[in-house]
Amino acid sequence: MKGLILSGGKGTRLYPITFNRAKQLVPVANKPVLFRVIEAIKEAGIDDIGIVIGDTGSEIRQAVDNGKRWGVKITYIPQDAPLGLAHAVKISQEFLGDDRFVMFLGDNVIQGGISNLIRQFSSSDWNSQVVLTEVDQPQHYGVAELDDQGRIRRLVEKPRNPPSNLALVGIYMFDHHIFEAVHAIKPSWRGELEITDAIQWLVENNYQVHPYVHRGWWIDTGKPIDMLEANNRVLAELEHRVDGYVDRDSKVDHLVTIERGAEIINSVIRGPAIIGEDVRIVNSYVGPFTSIYHHTLIEDSEIEHSIVLDHSRIVGIPSRIEDSIIGRDVEVTYSPIKPKAYKMTLGDHSRVGLL
Ligand code: TTP
Repeated sequence: MKGLILSGGKGTRLYPITFNRAKQLVPVANKPVLFRVIEAIKEAGIDDIGIVIGDTGSEIRQAVDNGKRWGVKITYIPQDAPLGLAHAVKISQEFLGDDRFVMFLGDNVIQGGISNLIRQFSSSDWNSQVVLTEVDQPQHYGVAELDDQGRIRRLVEKPRNPPSNLALVGIYMFDHHIFEAVHAIKPSWRGELEITDAIQWLVENNYQVHPYVHRGWWIDTGKPIDMLEANNRVLAELEHRVDGYVDRDSKVDHLVTIERGAEIINSVIRGPAIIGEDVRIVNSYVGPFTSIYHHTLIEDSEIEHSIVLDHSRIVGIPSRIEDSIIGRDVEVTYSPIKPKAYKMTLGDHSRVGLL
């Protein structure tokens, strides 16, 4: 089997974090989501992986390279524009050939990996297997309607009146018949070739599409709140370890990971949390569900339930920062200079909540 990871797209819902960066490279518990996807595919025994890339392709190529680090072979498949998930399959036909394959959205995180799913599919004669999970607001997802025998009767994209609460998770398995489907369907009202339409085509043409209902958590990191939620989930399941330095005046509990070169000075860190390489935490409090990425400084400040990217500085902030995603190379500091006022240099699409 082969793997196909979709890492094109625009990531508009995560602006400004993804304004000029790939959303699949935003770290969750200090590891880019895309790396977690590669690891899940490799763990399932697949080492020939294609990655569909768009405008942020060069950044993805630089970060993933040839895949040797994970013991996999990576082939990059450029997509001129984000014309839909089924379009991404269409342009990958040469890479995929007649092999069965798993397609994984590069911004999705799933509990427990995909080894079981792959095992089931590769030993079956199904033409496709789709992963479904129960969600609270099915109208925001691709939704499946099952018949009395648990077979897929119909798939609908973001239905106003959902036929069930079973949403399509961003992981799909196909054999080569999917190419007939992606060539047969037409773009939707939003101008995209929809994967739900392609799967619906398989169902209507009597190909076997097997539904697999996933019981653990699954997160599509489309919006900032989802990114924080994914961070919570992964941090809670991480095996924690301390590789950095913690001074005698600091308190760090057993649910905290401190990466190589990090220094914790006169501070309190309550897990689950992760402190990245060469980070300095000085006279500060870092609370649960926080990930601080490499080379960042937190001094005389308090932060909780947040993600901070690399090379940022948060210094002397008088009130606690919560529920925040702070980008790369960002400075948040206290300014004693009069007049007493908020002084900001914010980029396009920034979001700030002031007291
Ligand atoms: P989406 O989240 O549907 O789209 P997006 O990344 O453009 O985000 P936004 O809606 O915030 O602008 O995409 C899901 C995944 O699939 C994501 O990793 C990007 C990838 N993708 C492609 O590779 N090609 C495509 O044509 C599309 C639509 C998405």
